[in-house]
Amino acid sequence: MKRILAPSILSADFRILGEQLRITEEAGAQYIHFDVMDGMFVPSISFGMPVLSSIRGTTGQTMDVHLMVTDPIRYVEEFAKCGADSITVHQEACEDLQGTLDRIHGCGVKAGISIKPATPVEMLIPYLDQAEMFLIMSVEPGFGGQAFIPESLERIRTLRSLLDERGTEADIEVDGGIYHSNVAQVLEAGANVIVSGSGVFKGDVAKNTSEFMEILRRYE
Ligand code: DX5
Ligand code: ZN
Repeated sequence: MKRILAPSILSADFRILGEQLRITEEAGAQYIHFDVMDGMFVPSISFGMPVLSSIRGTTGQTMDVHLMVTDPIRYVEEFAKCGADSITVHQEACEDLQGTLDRIHGCGVKAGISIKPATPVEMLIPYLDQAEMFLIMSVEPGFGGQAFIPESLERIRTLRSLLDERGTEADIEVDGGIYHSNVAQVLEAGANVIVSGSGVFKGDVAKNTSEFMEILRRYE
C-alpha cells in the first residue's frame, strides 16, 4: 500500500504559496491537502475555490480537498470544477451522506468521509464500500497546530481492521498534530495518507518534507 504525504497548506506562507508547493513536490509529497472552513461547521474561515483554481496548474500533486463545511453537497461541483482530485466531507456535516458521496463520484472525483474525534468509527460501517478514503481527525477540526489526540491510534486500528474484514484497501488518512516524532505510530496503526501542516511548513519546508518521506518509505 502506498504511503502518501499530504502537506496541509493551512500552515503555508501564502506570499509564496506556489514556491512552497513546488518545494514539497520536489521533496516527494504526492498530495496537497486543501482545508476549506466555512465559519459554521468549524469556527474559523480559511480559503476556497479561487485559491484552488490558481494553484491547480502550478503542481502535479493530487489536490486533496477537505471540506469542513456545513452541507458540503452544495459545493461539490464547484470544487471539482476548480481542480479537486478528491473531495472529503464530514459525516457530521451531511444531511444526506450517501447523496453527497454520489454527487462527488458523479463529478468524476474520489470521495472521502471524515469523522471528528468524538464520532464513533462504527458510524462508517455502512459506507465502507462507498468511499475511496476515510479521514480520521486526530484533532478537533478547525485550526492547525493542535496536539495529536492519542486515542486516535486505536480508532485507526479499528478502522483498518474493519476495512480488512470487508476486503477493501481504501485509504486511511489522518489529519492533525502529526510530526516526524509521531508519524511512525500513525503508520503502524494502519494509516497510509498523512496530513501535516505545521510539521511541513514551519521551518525548512524541503528538509521537513524529505524527512517525512524518508519515514513513510520505511513502511511501504
Ligand atoms: C485542521 C485541519 C488540518 C490542519 C492540520 O482542522 O483539517 O488539515 O491543517 O494542521 P497541523 O498538522 O498543524 O495539525
Ligand atoms: Zn484537513
